[in-house]
Amino acid sequence: MKRIGLLTSGGDAPGMNAAIRAVVRSGIYFGMEVYGIERGYAGLIEDTVLPMEMRSVSNIVQCGGTKLRTARCLEMLTEEGQKRAVQTLEKHGIEGLVVIGGDGSFRGAKVLSEKYGVPTIGIPGTIDNDLEYTDYTLGFDTAVNTCLDIINKLRDTMTSHERVSVVEVMGRHCGDIALYSGIASGAEIIVVPEIAFSMDEIVTRINRSRANGKHSNIIVVAEGVMGANEFAKQLQAFTTHSVRPTCIGHVQRGGSPSMADRMLAAQFGNKAVRLLK
Ligand code: F6P
Repeated sequence: MKRIGLLTSGGDAPGMNAAIRAVVRSGIYFGMEVYGIERGYAGLIEDTVLPMEMRSVSNIVQCGGTKLRTARCLEMLTEEGQKRAVQTLEKHGIEGLVVIGGDGSFRGAKVLSEKYGVPTIGIPGTIDNDLEYTDYTLGFDTAVNTCLDIINKLRDTMTSHERVSVVEVMGRHCGDIALYSGIASGAEIIVVPEIAFSMDEIVTRINRSRANGKHSNIIVVAEGVMGANEFAKQLQAFTTHSVRPTCIGHVQRGGSPSMADRMLAAQFGNKAVRLLK
């Protein structure tokens, strides 16, 4: 295989740039030409393809976001879009593709591979940690560390005011960001979509912890359960303690990747190129 393509797709995740760098440099190491495709599958369909060199990926290992930019591309779900994507690959003589993204991106990769015979390797890149066959997805570690930083700060002010903090984290339908950031921050309660909860039980736990001398409570809620505002409103109806909602939001998708994500990116990127080879 002499010429490979590379794109990032779906929601961005810290570590995507480190993975781009690893794919480009591994590809060049193995004597391949590497082409970057901008804006995910949208760029593949619209033919925004550019050759990448060793120096195209200098100074990006530490950067959040994705240098190739990304998009959620509905057109890739249509036969017309898929055919145009394959035409772009053929036009540039691209024989294999690396797709960095989450489950939607992997669905597109599967179509290219199974329906059109394009050798395609997926690198699991999403903060959600919701993909099978990998312990961790790229960006998850950094996102959880960002949540931890914010939850630590919330603990300070909640303790001063003896409040209950409801913190909403991302994850789509998956509770992993909530679970890991909740355990690692010492949250009293973690609510994930995978397990049913009852407000009664939550209030009982808050009361028990207050009786034991706690001055604040942190409840980490995965977005797949409910938004922080709604959750806080429902909880406030059951308790006299003052409840405050915080939605961490897109802050958890940005930032310089952690060491764990940079290492994972290097390993994923190199392995993807070796598999294509
Ligand atoms: O898949 C990553 C993710 O950040 C999810 O956790 C979240 O539900 C979604 O993307 C948000 O998407 P958008 O950036 O399009 O609002």
